[in-house]
Amino acid sequence: MRFEYAPDESYQDVGGGQVLHSAPGFPGFPARLALELFERARVLAGTGRVGLWDPMCGAGGIVATLALLRRDALTRVLASDVSDRALELAVKNLRLTTPEGLAQRRGQLRAQSAVTGRLESVDRLLEKVRRGPPVPADLARADATDPADVARLDLAGIGVVIADLPYGTQADWSSEAPTPAARTLRTLAGALGAGAVIVLSTVNREDLRGCPPALRSFKHGRRHLRMYRVEEPTAR
Ligand SMILES: C[S@@+](CC[C@H](N)C(=O)[O-])C[C@H]1O[C@@H](n2cnc3c(N)ncnc32)[C@H](O)[C@@H]1O
Repeated sequence: MRFEYAPDESYQDVGGGQVLHSAPGFPGFPARLALELFERARVLAGTGRVGLWDPMCGAGGIVATLALLRRDALTRVLASDVSDRALELAVKNLRLTTPEGLAQRRGQLRAQSAVTGRLESVDRLLEKVRRGPPVPADLARADATDPADVARLDLAGIGVVIADLPYGTQADWSSEAPTPAARTLRTLAGALGAGAVIVLSTVNREDLRGCPPALRSFKHGRRHLRMYRVEEPTAR
């Protein structure tokens, strides 16, 4: 896959463990790839500013990164996950997308030793965040394969979904479904408005078994990426 929208520059400021919180068992997602997928999805959705939802948010890396890098393109972010531990970490990371949260993080990092590069990263992020509009962020516990759970979420304005599917190594599926990715896709598409774009990312190609053919399909490193657009329900 060639990067068309995410420039070849340093993404260190939003890299795991630099300013954002990371923890064992919570795999991160490459920041440049998150940006590229978001921009491609926005083009496909044909929207300007848009709401972004990560229904398997883990530590919240994707939504936090994009709320830091592309505030001007976002109306809101929503992060959900089935794991309470994941949501605890995601809350902390989403707080780092606000000036108050970053200022507090700066204080924490200052109190630690050998953090010069990290303080500079916080300062650059603070500058970005102060320049851009605030991005409202919501978090919720939801099983992305369960239509009843997903129906309880406020999905107003969500036009782009990026889902980094569980790997089965660090973060496993929490689902009884024999083809959980296909079930997730059906559940998300059923809950979203026509025109919304869903991006699935997985390192296990087998996991995509049962998913319909995608509108766009590409590979980056070990990751298989699929893009779908939610269509108008067909009249019977
Ligand atoms: C690969 S991780 C996502 C990492 C995330 N993209 C990040 O940048 O931090 C996959 C996540 O899916 C969650 N998960 C597993 N089964 C789920 C389900 N049925 N519904 C929602 N989330 C689920 C796991 O708890 C895990 O946090």
